[in-house]
Amino acid sequence: MKLKRHLILPFFAAFLFGCGSSDCVQRTEENFNLGWEFSLNNGTPLTLDLPHDWSIEGEFKEDNPATAGGGALPGGMGVYKKTFLMPEEDSKKQIFLCFDGVYWQSTVKVNGQKIGFRPNGYVSFEYDVTPFLNFGKENTVEVIVDNTNQPNSRWYSGSGIYRNVYLKKVNKTHFVEPEIFITTSEVSGTSANINLSAKITGEGEYDLLVKIKNPDGTLAAEISDKITAGELKKIENTAVKNPQLWSPETPKIYSADFFIQKDGNVLDKYTETFGIRYFSFDNANGFKLNGKVMKINGVCNHHDLGALGTAVNHRALERQLEILKNMGCNAIRTSHNPPAKELLNLCDSMGFIVMDEAFDMWARKKSPYDYAQYFKEWHERDLEDFIKRDRNHPSVIIWSIGNEILEQWRDISTDTLDLEKANLMFNFAAQLSKKDAKDGEIHVNTMLCKKLVEFVKNIDPTRPVTTGNNETEPHNLLFKADALDIIGFNYHDYNWGEVFKEKFPGKPLIITEAVSALQTRGHYIAPADTEYLWPERWDLPFDTPDHKCSAYDNTRAPWGSTHETTLKAFLKYPWVSGIFVWTGFDYLGEPTPYGWPSRSSYFGIIDLAGFEKDVYYLYQSLWTNNDVLHLLPHWNWNEGDTIDVWAYTNADEVELFLNGESLGIKKLADDTSKLHLSWKVPFKAGDLKAVAKRGSKEFSQTVKTAGKASQLTASADRNVIRADGEDLSFITINITDEKGTLVPNSCNKIEFEVSGPGEIVGLDNGDEVCHESFKGKSHSAFNGKCLCIIKSKRNEKGTITVTAKTEGLKDAVAVINTK
Ligand code: GAL
Repeated sequence: MKLKRHLILPFFAAFLFGCGSSDCVQRTEENFNLGWEFSLNNGTPLTLDLPHDWSIEGEFKEDNPATAGGGALPGGMGVYKKTFLMPEEDSKKQIFLCFDGVYWQSTVKVNGQKIGFRPNGYVSFEYDVTPFLNFGKENTVEVIVDNTNQPNSRWYSGSGIYRNVYLKKVNKTHFVEPEIFITTSEVSGTSANINLSAKITGEGEYDLLVKIKNPDGTLAAEISDKITAGELKKIENTAVKNPQLWSPETPKIYSADFFIQKDGNVLDKYTETFGIRYFSFDNANGFKLNGKVMKINGVCNHHDLGALGTAVNHRALERQLEILKNMGCNAIRTSHNPPAKELLNLCDSMGFIVMDEAFDMWARKKSPYDYAQYFKEWHERDLEDFIKRDRNHPSVIIWSIGNEILEQWRDISTDTLDLEKANLMFNFAAQLSKKDAKDGEIHVNTMLCKKLVEFVKNIDPTRPVTTGNNETEPHNLLFKADALDIIGFNYHDYNWGEVFKEKFPGKPLIITEAVSALQTRGHYIAPADTEYLWPERWDLPFDTPDHKCSAYDNTRAPWGSTHETTLKAFLKYPWVSGIFVWTGFDYLGEPTPYGWPSRSSYFGIIDLAGFEKDVYYLYQSLWTNNDVLHLLPHWNWNEGDTIDVWAYTNADEVELFLNGESLGIKKLADDTSKLHLSWKVPFKAGDLKAVAKRGSKEFSQTVKTAGKASQLTASADRNVIRADGEDLSFITINITDEKGTLVPNSCNKIEFEVSGPGEIVGLDNGDEVCHESFKGKSHSAFNGKCLCIIKSKRNEKGTITVTAKTEGLKDAVAVINTK
């Protein structure tokens, strides 16, 4: 758990540190999410709590300006207002209003006075509101959020104050949190050096005390020193013995409590968490963590949480990571923007490597109203805030300063320098030497890349910097800067082999994005061994009546590949340090290969509701050591059909039986060109059973022909949740026959009834074309499944009963206790 958000009772603090003066009341960070008044497009105000995404509550419409590419949900202009009492006794403090993320173009006013504008919708920011407050009186804060002009992001952005808000109260002398930076050096199994930097506000000199704590909370080291207000204090080489190294398998978290003291009084205490680990990338072995070669088995994820939209929720993120961990995934790319803090905290504690990404565009835009318009004025500020916020997370291993940036190429408008571009050039041209341009030419885009890398390195010299590139040749203007530590390729499997080493001698390689295969859960298009290129070319129109893709791994976007093709290439080359598959979860927007009425992606290994597609088990068979055996498709076909049966497995051999009759034994070793086993089976209703042998172990799976739908079943991922108004239980409803076999193509409309201290906050079924609201009390199932997300009520302990009903079938009940 991240200890950063810390609330220490003043009395307790005073007692603990022998504080005698009123000045010594320490920092508090109050949750500022509750009781906002919200009005959309000047409409009737509602009262609500944050985090809030107003788009997800809207209607899918073809003419919403976000377009299907942005999820086809509404944008608009939202105004949030909150009235609050500022106690008189806080008048000696400094008060900050802290926003973890607002999408986007937010203007904040306090008591009617504008205190700031922040265009970037993904970065965290804060304002010192002290001079604008009335102490001992009521105050109002107003946040105006403008998401009118769209498209402005790839892909669904959500709208509103979609991350947490805090009111931070500190003494005038306090730590400047972004300046606290903890790094490690000389790390081995027996010792590590901890290096700290810190900065404080105020005037004069103070005592600085730092207590470094082991993962179990015991003291690892203590440092006492002096610190002068305004200076960046560095304390290097504090030794820690027998460090417990951070890795995906052992996500050990250390912490450091920083204290500012004067005459024995504690003026501020700030806790930061960190990890001890070392790593390297090279062009022979790829990636090494703590001295051991390992593959970065990652996925790209967009930031929406399906039916919850972008409104951040700790449990929803944790559930996503649990599902990915179970698949064997050990890394996340935050495509293509700074993520929620909660995600990084979870990656630290659950053990995921993070490629933390700053931008999807620089100065050249990708969509009509995107961040490119703000890049020149804001990129340094945004990049600095982003890196400083995230640089203490042990999970963060790579910075990405951009995805498929159009500056990879020259174009006439950038080659002919206008005043702005020329200014950019003058800003940092002095830092470039001849060697920066391999063939003696320096393009402005090359300089921009070099500048950004250096900018990041000045703030964090400990991590490599890369970009996700879809121009994978050395003439890419970003590569020409020779500044990126790791070459990042999006797709282009044919360039990963020996040819990479020839083209980029000595450079490490990571596959920042790959695959882009297309699948709808539970939908099968045969023949399974025919590859479908949908669309044939990226700029050609494509349509089918049902807007579905095939869950056999046989359909892909033209720039992508099937999961199998890419995984084979990935496994083949040791110098390919890692891969980020596009994508782990489906997301709202980008419904390639279709347009409207589709409104969410087909790329996910897992659908929008969090239900695994079949290919999930391909990854599990390769990326875990579990006994994996997964048969596809379902077993409800017509007599006489010949069905392509596939098995994803890591067993040595699998024997398939139909109604007890053997259909033969298959071994992966017999055809190394494939990562699955396959049979062609004339359909007969009944039981299709696979029996696998792995070493001395035997395990099996049976797929049964479902009879008539007869009942609903309900299973909650957690039956006990916290009564904090935030915790969630995800309930899966299946439509089954009387024996409990999933009825594969059923899509009954399900009504939900909830009693007790909980409410429905999201309903979904993973269907990319469904236009039913994610909110409300009823939702259709899709291919046998529906998801109901229940949230607890704050401070109401009790039993929540969720009943799922549909006409003609037996109800299902899930019971959740809140504690
Ligand atoms: C990539 C791009 C992603 C997404 C993906 C879909 O080129 O970086 O944002 O669009 O294609 O295949």
